[in-house]
Amino acid sequence: MGYIKSAALEETGYVVLDRYNKQIDPKEWLDLEYVDWKSSGETRFAPLASAKGEVEVNGFWNHKPPRTDKDGVWIDSQTAIAPTLTERALEPGANVGRCRVIELMPNDYADCLYNLHQDDNNRLNPDGTGWIVRGFFNLTDDKDSYFVLRDNRTDPSVEYRIALPAGAQLIVDTQRLWHAATHNSETPRYCLITSWESGPELDAYIEKYNGVNRVPNVEVPQDVLDAGQAEQTRRLAARAAYYAAKGQAEKTAMSEA
Ligand SMILES: [Fe+2]
Repeated sequence: MGYIKSAALEETGYVVLDRYNKQIDPKEWLDLEYVDWKSSGETRFAPLASAKGEVEVNGFWNHKPPRTDKDGVWIDSQTAIAPTLTERALEPGANVGRCRVIELMPNDYADCLYNLHQDDNNRLNPDGTGWIVRGFFNLTDDKDSYFVLRDNRTDPSVEYRIALPAGAQLIVDTQRLWHAATHNSETPRYCLITSWESGPELDAYIEKYNGVNRVPNVEVPQDVLDAGQAEQTRRLAARAAYYAAKGQAEKTAMSEA
């Protein structure tokens, strides 16, 4: 039967929507309760919706009973602090699974390439239902930062680099595309990440905000790209050697909650 997917994401695996042009009080993300959770880079997360409405960010499939990334339970203590963010997550009317604010500490392009990972959003997702994709709504105005998306983790020939000013909004099939953010800054980046179920509601939302599946790549000097690629190769080899020496299977993807 197969999953219901968005035609808009078929070609590249992502769409960029119109920029959100209203101010949001930074208290909506700064005052939330965060939990330490190592994802791609130095990160913490503040959940707005979780598996059982608790302030924790584990994958729904790691709970008992295990279930897929849908029907997240809103956390009243958090949504009361972040009404606009909650509203934005609910706006499409698509089913919401995990919904949380990520705090990412500054890193560079080489770190980002090392951090590239795929998500596991569709584990236990029943065939014939909507494929889970993720909305990224950038909160801080990160003018020198960009999202990196690749078809293949180690192959730079297909690489999308998407700018992350305040209000940038993209929807990504994060199970298909390798992804991470380069955050050139002195201060943390905050971004709302929402698991949405694909279907007519999400398609209408993409259309309403003029989603496009290609935008010009953020320009990065070739020497930075080359150095980042070389560093990714070096770090991945070092990690593989480390696990080989320990006689353990290497984790192939960073766990992303
Ligand atoms: Fe991810």
